[in-house]
Amino acid sequence: MNESLKNKVVLITGATSGIGKSSALAFAAAGSKVIVSGRREPEGQAVVDEIKTAGGEATFVKADVAREADITNLLDRTLATYDRLDVAFNNAGVEFTGPMTEITEADFQRVFAINVWGVLASMKHEIPIMLRQGGGVIINTSSIAGKIGMADNSVYIASKHAVEGLTKAAAIEYAAKGIRVNAVAPGGVETDMLTRFTGGGNEEAIASLRSLHPVQRIGRPEEIAHPVLFLASDAASFITGTSLPVDGGFLAQ
Ligand SMILES: NC(=O)c1ccc[n+]([C@@H]2O[C@H](COP(=O)([O-])OP(=O)(O)OC[C@H]3O[C@@H](n4cnc5c(N)ncnc54)[C@H](O)[C@@H]3O)[C@@H](O)[C@H]2O)c1
Repeated sequence: MNESLKNKVVLITGATSGIGKSSALAFAAAGSKVIVSGRREPEGQAVVDEIKTAGGEATFVKADVAREADITNLLDRTLATYDRLDVAFNNAGVEFTGPMTEITEADFQRVFAINVWGVLASMKHEIPIMLRQGGGVIINTSSIAGKIGMADNSVYIASKHAVEGLTKAAAIEYAAKGIRVNAVAPGGVETDMLTRFTGGGNEEAIASLRSLHPVQRIGRPEEIAHPVLFLASDAASFITGTSLPVDGGFLAQ
């Protein structure tokens, strides 16, 4: 399956930690050339160093996905470095917790700027490159929160529902032109986001989150990365417009 990812140019946003970082390591191990992108340069450079130490190929490009100018620069740098773009994993995102009655306009704008505009603007600039090449693969990071409601998470829930909608819309718009667009919808995963979400890793909050998953545990970042590699690979050549839950059974309940 991963044989088809060898020498592919793969761009990952939010790759300085968590699911993005784990995916960057997994793509590099499969022989892909990885553009590791994020806002934090030292962390991004550390991911690149880890890949290179293991014999892989990667480059860090700093970008805030809420800023379109950063995205155009990111894609310019991708082309200048590797001359093409085969796979884009639009993964950067932020959580937001709080009752609906306390959300400010600024909270809403910030979460939507990163989680929704960040994904849309990324696709806006990735797709023309893929069209010129005759095809490509896009994977967006949604969430179980993109498929169901939950209390005290309305802005995040709405933003991830929007990612699901954008994924379907883009898939249909470009299906006949050789671009596959899918999403991955993780359940709880052990990352910095989950630590923040559980109030700094509060053991009681983590135990309660664990128990919400039928497998009675939280996922590991690599358990999301591998399904992302599958969606990016030729093994998924007939899959487009879908959002794959990777959630330890959460959504089956
Ligand atoms: N951890 C979970 O339980 C979980 C569950 C479902 C979905 N997700 C989604 O997975 C994705 C990755 O999150 P994670 O769990 O690895 O947490 P994380 O906090 O480790 O990773 C998020 C990454 O996005 C980056 N980022 C945030 N804002 C950005 C911006 N404006 N521009 C560029 N990069 C930015 C962060 O710096 C970080 O590297 C997110 O989209 C998140 O919503 C996470």
